[in-house]
Amino acid sequence: MKELLATTLFGLEDVLAEELELIGAKSVTVQNRAVSFEGDKAMMYRANFHLRTALRVLKPMDSFPARNEDDIYKAIKELEWEKVIGVHDLIAVDTVLVSDEYRHSGFVSQRVKDGIVDRFRERTGRRPSVDLKNPNLRINIHLNDTRCSVSLDSSGDSLHKRGYRTQPFKAPLNEVLAAGMILLSGWDPTKPFLNPMCGSGTLCIEAGLIAKGVPGGIYRNSFGFQAWKDYEPELFESIRRERFLEVHDDFQIHASDISFPAIRAAQQNLATSGLLGKIKLEKSSFQKWDTGLKEGLIIMNPPYGERLDDSNLDELYRDIGDTLKRDYTGFQAWVLSGNPQALKHLALKPGKKKALFNGPIQCKYHFYDLYAGSRKIVNKTGNQK
Ligand SMILES: C[S@@+](CC[C@H](N)C(=O)[O-])C[C@H]1O[C@@H](n2cnc3c(N)ncnc32)[C@H](O)[C@@H]1O
Repeated sequence: MKELLATTLFGLEDVLAEELELIGAKSVTVQNRAVSFEGDKAMMYRANFHLRTALRVLKPMDSFPARNEDDIYKAIKELEWEKVIGVHDLIAVDTVLVSDEYRHSGFVSQRVKDGIVDRFRERTGRRPSVDLKNPNLRINIHLNDTRCSVSLDSSGDSLHKRGYRTQPFKAPLNEVLAAGMILLSGWDPTKPFLNPMCGSGTLCIEAGLIAKGVPGGIYRNSFGFQAWKDYEPELFESIRRERFLEVHDDFQIHASDISFPAIRAAQQNLATSGLLGKIKLEKSSFQKWDTGLKEGLIIMNPPYGERLDDSNLDELYRDIGDTLKRDYTGFQAWVLSGNPQALKHLALKPGKKKALFNGPIQCKYHFYDLYAGSRKIVNKTGNQK
């Protein structure tokens, strides 16, 4: 058993920990934007293939104090890289800085690479090469103040790249964030799921994959560990066949968007994710959308302000609030927005509030329980209207 680390987005640590427990990881411990756990090689493959809310699964190699890049170079050169890379391999180094001692992640990556290739050159006269796009081995450096952690990145490309999104539309959500929003909502796949303003369809596709119990990585072409020296294809094949979620084939997922190009992109992405025809997709404004449903969970990600001035945005959010109050009594709704001012124009009292990040944009993720009484708005005289 080795310590492993799954990294994630701010606010998704708890749902990632639950996912890890579900797949049988041991000693699951929540950290900042990451969850550590214990596992063997099979668990490392399993975490990459099955998790929906992890960005990367790292295999820690060493950790040491380092005051500057030269300290890092010396410590890196001492590590037994020949156990994990050959001279013909291609490497890439990614550095994450959480430190005031270091200014340039690129310079740290450069010195790490120097330490590795100098070790090889001095011992064999030959050295591995660098390939930032398609390496056999990604090395992850995390500098927290003066503590340097060195890990092997078993994921390769970030795990949000599921492989089903061939058609992006404006401002698509990161797939890890979309899955995290659904898991945070506690959606029960036997209940209807509504995704108005669906854009390219990330939320409804992630919901469909959860309902069908399909692993997060099912459509990926490759994972970093498949290019490692110790890769065991039969072991990975057996892990690809494992399932951890109940399968709900009769799920009800409805999605819509006002824009035709958005619907076209969503349709294409539904096709690549094997969900075309299983999710009801309509071109409609949220204000006029009629699903015929009487209950369900709504998750939506309205525009935050790009291309809309503040007054239009306030009006849009007022309309969303009015529509929720008028047409969705008996439903529950979660709204993600990067514009806290606009969110106030929903004029609904959130029952829960979470902070999330959509890329660099700090967002609020609010829950509204639209029970019959929530429509009553108290006016200044104290009378209800
Ligand atoms: C931030 S994007 C959603 C992105 C989506 N979550 C994804 O992953 O692609 C907001 C979407 O709201 C849609 N939209 C804006 N106003 C709308 C309205 N009144 N009714 C329905 N859709 C609307 C836009 O066309 C756009 O696709």
